[in-house]
Amino acid sequence: MIVLGIESSCDETAAAIVNDKKEILGEALLSQEEHKAFGGVVPEIAARSHLEHIDSILEQCCQRANIKLQDIDAVAAASGPGLIGGVIVGVMTAKALSIALNKPFVAVNHLEGHALAARITNDVEFPYLLLLVSGGHCQILVVKDVDKYERLGTTIDDAAGEAYDKVAKMLGLGYPGGPAVEKMAASGDETRFSLPRPLIGSSDCNLSFSGLKTAVRKIVETYSPDGELAHADIPAHDVADICACFQYTATDCLCRKLGKAIAYFKQQYPQGKHLVVSGGVASNTYLREKLQVLAEKNGLIFAAPPIRFCTDNGVMIAWAGLERFRKGYTSPLDFKPRPRWPLDNDAPKAAGAGGVKA
Ligand code: KG4
Ligand code: ZN
Repeated sequence: MIVLGIESSCDETAAAIVNDKKEILGEALLSQEEHKAFGGVVPEIAARSHLEHIDSILEQCCQRANIKLQDIDAVAAASGPGLIGGVIVGVMTAKALSIALNKPFVAVNHLEGHALAARITNDVEFPYLLLLVSGGHCQILVVKDVDKYERLGTTIDDAAGEAYDKVAKMLGLGYPGGPAVEKMAASGDETRFSLPRPLIGSSDCNLSFSGLKTAVRKIVETYSPDGELAHADIPAHDVADICACFQYTATDCLCRKLGKAIAYFKQQYPQGKHLVVSGGVASNTYLREKLQVLAEKNGLIFAAPPIRFCTDNGVMIAWAGLERFRKGYTSPLDFKPRPRWPLDNDAPKAAGAGGVKA
């Protein structure tokens, strides 16, 4: 079974061809550079850039795979959630290929792409506990099966990656902020500033990063003669300390709420073996190390896709498409791209994440 997958929901134009032996036959990816000057992704620019590059990305991908398009069994595309202009480009391309090749179209939830990525790169069986941390989402879920999720917690404001990006912007570190903050944090003192951990005492598995970001802003403002962020002049070693303290606190919040989720997971899903992290922020080595320790302490196996499969890519969409296709989930050609598309079928559990207590 061979599936082609297309990703275009944010600022990566990507395609990949995978098979059911977990082999990546071909892939191609273009990270759009145009957004750097704006300090964040500009939706209109992203959509135009996807349109401009999608054909050559597909061509490269097919050349690398060295197979005929006719040998593909299904065509998948990230069909939401995401920036709708970009999503439409990928979905329409996949639908056109589906018609031309007479092969089924599979609409993939971008979040399901992140959620299932560890199953192509690591040996992970259902059910597993997942921390999904990206630029747009921050959720703790039980992955019960393909298309079957139980959401235990979510951020009530900013996503973790968004907080990294905003902190980086305040410190003049550019976009995307995560890798830059991580790099600076490596030489900083994580004990220098004590930062708030919003929601840390609540008995549920929800998270909040907005107050943490505001606390960083207040520190940055003290380096400005007139309190204007743009005028702040911060010595490099202080930037490193701020980054280290932010990263330490954000990671601690994630680990503490995951601790609650693990207790629930072990009780409700005793057959589950893995703690998985995915999404762009899962590239963060500091977070991966802390999660490894947390998993081991709780008798779980830690699994994270290689870093290049944590940030947006075509392989995760092709793989999720393959997993859906082999379960018989194909999509009609009038499937409408969805700017919002929650992953879980069930409403999020309220306080206690289904019984988890502090
Ligand atoms: O999954 P992704 O590529 O796109 C979305 O679906 O959002 O995630 C991008 C996010 C950005 O916010 C970026 O700053 C963050 O992932 N990120 C990181 C690191 N690498 C990327 N955050 C922290 N540390 C990193 N090393
Ligand atoms: Zn993503």
